[in-house]
Amino acid sequence: MGRDGYIAVAGADELRDNEMKAFEHQGQRLLLVRAEGEYYVVDEMCTHEDYSLALGCIKGRRIKCSLHGSYFDLATGQPDEDPADEPICSYGVKVADGRVWFKPDSRR
Ligand code: FES
Repeated sequence: MGRDGYIAVAGADELRDNEMKAFEHQGQRLLLVRAEGEYYVVDEMCTHEDYSLALGCIKGRRIKCSLHGSYFDLATGQPDEDPADEPICSYGVKVADGRVWFKPDSRR
């Protein structure tokens, strides 16, 4: 655990745009995503059915579920294409000291 409740999850240069990395924190499956130069941490599983968003792709600042095609905003977690109607969680992220950090208790 780093300062202010943030946890390091990757090196700051580890991912390129439109790449993602799945990881677990306290039994929870999460995704680190880089999109348009920014890092995001979101839930790995789609809210429509139990399907991994790591199998989808990044479009702009959205992640697409490859099973039925819903998109989720990476910053807010909100779905903006049917059939998913529940948001995924998006977490606070910062880049500092050459690493990417996320804050587990900052769900939104
Ligand atoms: S499982 Fe993701 S849109 Fe259906």
